Amino acid sequence: MQKKTVSIEYYAFSSLEELDTAAVQLIESAVNIAGSAYVPYSHFPVGAAVRLADGRVFAGNNQENIAYPSGTCAERSVLNYVHGNYPDCKIVALAVTALHTEAHTPVTPCGFCRQVIVELEKHQQSPIQVILHKSNGPIFVFETAGALLPLAFEDTVLRDKK
Ligand code: THU
Repeated sequence: MQKKTVSIEYYAFSSLEELDTAAVQLIESAVNIAGSAYVPYSHFPVGAAVRLADGRVFAGNNQENIAYPSGTCAERSVLNYVHGNYPDCKIVALAVTALHTEAHTPVTPCGFCRQVIVELEKHQQSPIQVILHKSNGPIFVFETAGALLPLAFEDTVLRDKK
């Protein structure tokens, strides 16, 4: 038996001034759309914005439902839209923010969303930078979506069954 360790690497910035313009603009898009999230149950607005390789930016927010599991996180709102409409365009970055949080760290995507981001990253065969933001707080930057989900479920598991 061997004990194994998995580590996650990310960059922590203390303020927006430390980021490049493209990252700040993506965060601003996420903040703006978080303001129109439909969150009557959690009162926890989240915004997510995606930048494509050609520079276009798209944004989405969380959309809840009285049947709770029917709701959708901000990340999947925007990612499903972008991949559905622009399946051949590479996603270069995803910014996520939560408007009202007492936490000292940025919002981090749920496991469900991580699996979706990782799938798109693998499918497009190029990294998706993930930027996690919180107002007046630190910004965490992951160079790849894969870094957020070590040991992700892989399609090789299914391929091996064929
Ligand atoms: N939520 C997101 O939209 N993204 C995240 O990264 C974390 C959680 C949403 C789901 C639900 O609408 C609300 O936040 C509270 O969990």
